[in-house]
Amino acid sequence: RDITIRAFRGELLSVARDPRDDPDAVRHEPDGLIVVEDGVVIARGAYADLAERYAAVPVEALPGLIVPGFVDAHVHYPQMDKIASHGEQLLDWLDRHIFPAEKAFADPAYAAAVAAAFLDELLRNGTTSALVYPTVHEHSVDVLFEAALARDMRIVSGKVLMDLGPEGLRDTLASGRAQSEALIRRWRGRGRLGYAVTPRFALTSTDAQLADAGALLAEHPDVLMHTHLAENLRECEAVAARFTQAIDYLDAYDRFGLVGKRSVFAHGIHLSDRACARLHESGAGIAVCPSSNLFLGSGCFHFGQADRHRLRLGLGTDIGAGTSFSLLHTAGLAYQAALAREDRLDPFRALYLATAGSAALLHIGERVGALEPGQEADFVVLDSAATPLLARRTQGAGLAERLFALQILGDDRAVARTYIMGQCAWARDS
Ligand code: GUN
Ligand code: ZN
Repeated sequence: RDITIRAFRGELLSVARDPRDDPDAVRHEPDGLIVVEDGVVIARGAYADLAERYAAVPVEALPGLIVPGFVDAHVHYPQMDKIASHGEQLLDWLDRHIFPAEKAFADPAYAAAVAAAFLDELLRNGTTSALVYPTVHEHSVDVLFEAALARDMRIVSGKVLMDLGPEGLRDTLASGRAQSEALIRRWRGRGRLGYAVTPRFALTSTDAQLADAGALLAEHPDVLMHTHLAENLRECEAVAARFTQAIDYLDAYDRFGLVGKRSVFAHGIHLSDRACARLHESGAGIAVCPSSNLFLGSGCFHFGQADRHRLRLGLGTDIGAGTSFSLLHTAGLAYQAALAREDRLDPFRALYLATAGSAALLHIGERVGALEPGQEADFVVLDSAATPLLARRTQGAGLAERLFALQILGDDRAVARTYIMGQCAWARDS
């Protein structure tokens, strides 16, 4: 077997731990080197310190700011072609735009075509890993995983459970369980893929299906639990009206064994301190989705409250309620959402949320998110002169100012290249 060793030279930046908890988490080499063997980083440091030891290794110079590949902690691939659907908050938006669109995924060939386009769009935006909603259809997971395998991307997904869904988009207790088990069996250990038990949200599953999802999770200690939580006020009212025994929205899930350290909840806009304390105690985390929250008028995530409770956080686009595939742009919106509630989100922490934070949330933080030795070499080359305005704004700017400008002004245009396991998977200028 050929062992390939290659090195990349450029400006390196990563944030391996939450700066909220560890102010020394930012790692920056203005002239750095990463050495990659068979897709894995084996060394990283200042070029001057490593050049001699790796003198025999071919070096590629990368102009731009090299950061870990972005990790989208919550996104729906079947909704990509319904992005920018006008006029409604969550529940009406689902009924009017999303459920009809998801019905079309009954056709496996159509689903496969969208899955391929979706993953290519992730790569264009510098996203190398993601926790993804498919649809209720079993094959919607197969086609996504096949497309991810072909691109060697680290993707986590799982068949959506929704036995109270609308006509034509409903499973049953038995089919939901059987298809989930078949998918777990079929895909376990393949490529860089992972499985997530995925009840759509509390309102689209019977109590029996929620309980069964909890049982499935307990039987498979390597899978995640992925759902939506407390996104929209009318949604929260409907949950309170149905789950009269539950203390709050989170408790409706908790009663069925769905709250634990492997649980990822999207949104969490409207949470009580009790729910936050329970999230912290259980080790569950939240995928913060600011562009979606603005688009659907859901509200702004309360970073101050989350930080008081030391919640684990990641960043998600929530396409198609989200309005951009770019986690760079989404990081800029997270700053604005934080500010709306008089909280501050500094650009290094925003980068953390989009990389190592999301990776930790998805339990893939050992493998990706920080470009540290031992991790897989998924990374992005950012161009801080991608547009004339970005070039002007970042001219002569320091690192924090440059990174913030990239988050506020940047998007897919600022992603010059995306590397997967040390291989170039997207190049803007080719
Ligand atoms: N809650 C239940 N389903 C959905 C969905 O598809 N998108 C969002 N944003 N929230 C949901
Ligand atoms: Zn969502």
